[in-house]
Amino acid sequence: MTILGIETSCDETSAAVLRNATVASNIISSQLIHTNYGGVVPELASREHERTIVTVVDAALKEACIAKDEIDIVAATAGPGLIGAVMVGLCFAQGLAWSLRKPLVPVNHIEAHIFSAFIRESADQETPAGGFISLTVSGGHTMLCAVQENLTYDVIGRTIDDAAGEAFDKTGKMLGLDYPAGPLIDRLASEGDPGFHRFPRALTAGSQTSKNYRGNFDFSFSGLKTSVLRYIETHGENFVKRHLADIAASIQAAIVDVLVQKTVSAAESLEMDTISVAGGVSANSGLRKKMAEACERSGIRLHVPKAVYSTDNAAMIASLAELKLDRGFTPETRYDNAPYASFTKPSIT
Ligand code: KG4
Ligand code: ZN
Repeated sequence: MTILGIETSCDETSAAVLRNATVASNIISSQLIHTNYGGVVPELASREHERTIVTVVDAALKEACIAKDEIDIVAATAGPGLIGAVMVGLCFAQGLAWSLRKPLVPVNHIEAHIFSAFIRESADQETPAGGFISLTVSGGHTMLCAVQENLTYDVIGRTIDDAAGEAFDKTGKMLGLDYPAGPLIDRLASEGDPGFHRFPRALTAGSQTSKNYRGNFDFSFSGLKTSVLRYIETHGENFVKRHLADIAASIQAAIVDVLVQKTVSAAESLEMDTISVAGGVSANSGLRKKMAEACERSGIRLHVPKAVYSTDNAAMIASLAELKLDRGFTPETRYDNAPYASFTKPSIT
């Protein structure tokens, strides 16, 4: 079976071909246009997707050495995301599926991230077996959920304010770093001292709110943002410049500690022996290292996507469509009047 996946929910235009459940191509075009604005500008994102989608899809087909009529299924992100951006990819996918008379499979972007650690590049790679605790951390989402083998989800925690990626990006902006600051903080942190300053770890053991931390799998990062702002105001620009790597490492440690503590504690509480981390922030080297150490200590198996599958990509969209078909979900295909043909009701909103 050959699946073409399309992803345009934010600022990456991506198309991928999955052949016999393994990735044959995964083209990602990242929009640089937003750098000057300190964040993604929705209207500009939609226009960029429109400009590049044909080229990106053609490149994915070319790299996989297939012609359009060899596609069996078209899968596209149907949300959540920037609505204009999502519509560009979804409408393109609909048009293509209709012209080829092939099914269109709409995919939930977050659900696709959840399974991104299981994207296969060769036939002998693992597919998810049994349930697992999933931590999804991106620019817009921070969510802990218990994933059952039948692909149902119990959301057990989410952020009550900022997402983890947002915490990286916004504190990074305060330090004078370009958007997206996450990867830059990661790089700086590798040369800094994470113990240089202790920024708050909200809703965890040892935090000011520690009385309430037990069994609380929600996250909060807005206090960290305020704390970094106050720290910069108190110490001044020159101090910040001199100690940039140490401050970046301290911010990263505060975010990572919370993510690791809550995720491992969720797995222990629900007696699940596998954790999977996904989303843009799962590319963070500090998070990967600390989560691996904590899982090792607790005898938990850890799955993390390859860096290229951590951030938005179409391989994860095609792979989830494939996984669902493999597990017996059937796509409804109604070209006439259903822009959102669906496997099931969306399980995550
Ligand atoms: O999943 P993603 O590509 O897009 C969303 O759906 O949001 O995630 C983007 C987020 C941004 O906030 C970016 O700063 C963050 O992921 N990110 C990182 C790293 N790479 C990307 N954060 C920390 N360390 C990284 N290495
Ligand atoms: Zn994403």
